[in-house]
Amino acid sequence: MRVCDNILDLVNHTPLVRLRTGIPETGPKAYVKLEFFSPTGSLKDRMALHIIRKAMTRGRLKPGDTVIDNTSGNTGSAVAMVASVLGLKAILVTPEKTSQEKVDLIRSYGAEVIITPADAAPDDPRGCYMVARDLARKHGYFDIDQYNSQDNVEAHYLTTGPEIWEDTAGKVTHLVAGIGTGGTFSGAVRYLKERNPDIRGIAVDPEGSIFADYIRENKETVGYAYKVEGIGTDVITKALHPELVDEVITVSDNDSFNRARLISRTEGISAGGSSGAVAFAMEKVADGLSPEALIVGIFGDAGMRYLSKCYNDKWMREQGFLPALKGAQKL
Ligand SMILES: Cc1ncc(COP(=O)(O)O)c(C=O)c1O
Repeated sequence: MRVCDNILDLVNHTPLVRLRTGIPETGPKAYVKLEFFSPTGSLKDRMALHIIRKAMTRGRLKPGDTVIDNTSGNTGSAVAMVASVLGLKAILVTPEKTSQEKVDLIRSYGAEVIITPADAAPDDPRGCYMVARDLARKHGYFDIDQYNSQDNVEAHYLTTGPEIWEDTAGKVTHLVAGIGTGGTFSGAVRYLKERNPDIRGIAVDPEGSIFADYIRENKETVGYAYKVEGIGTDVITKALHPELVDEVITVSDNDSFNRARLISRTEGISAGGSSGAVAFAMEKVADGLSPEALIVGIFGDAGMRYLSKCYNDKWMREQGFLPALKGAQKL
């Protein structure tokens, strides 16, 4: 049994578990890294802890200071949790569409939440990205800026990558990860390619996000709305290092949510919609690979966070991701 001095000691070192859904029995081995084993239930704890600790070690932050970032939820609770342990104040700026549960979770760690209009474009001064930067500048807050921070990438270079290498005894051949900021993918894949340049990095992007076109054709297109949370973007970020992407797989909301639900029902792994997207992409990657190949996918957060969304049949039907009920079934 592990005994820890404080909750921060439980960040990092998440487990790998075998994934069978969609993977041929005679094909490669597939494992998923369950990031919901981290204290706030997502991969964002790694980044929040590393960026804040590094800034404190360098004297750029001290207890009593304020940290700020924009977030759609998971980063918010991670930053708020780390700030509460280290005696910092935290302000998180989030768009109106963020679920009430996520906002309440961030507040439960003692952080302040600022809500911005949902319809603001990325460069709109009313939007969460611009509001966070503006407040940081005006008040001298420490700006985490996860989308552009190279310390976000470094967090995964120092933790996620080495954990995957060690836990697979260096046998990993493919890493499949969603890209939100790009930090997880870029840091983990850079580490793994340094150990073995033949390891392939496969990025997962939701339909509607602009990463895939940017990576495939090096052009910035205009995206459209999608429902899966945590991955995809409408602006290109510096935390994504496109030269590390060997392949990008685009996954629809429908396939992401239904795959997450299927894995929960058949393998008892209840993860969020972005994990469903990763699992769906892993099936495509596995196709045609030999039994010697070893695919690792990153599951970013837990299904519990989405009980009112992809794990709610009514919501799924309203969105058209489950067939509508007919006649008597409606009762
Ligand atoms: C819930 C969640 N958030 C974020 C991400 C993306 O991480 P990053 O912002 O490091 O690219 C993922 C990736 O799968 C995820 O599942």
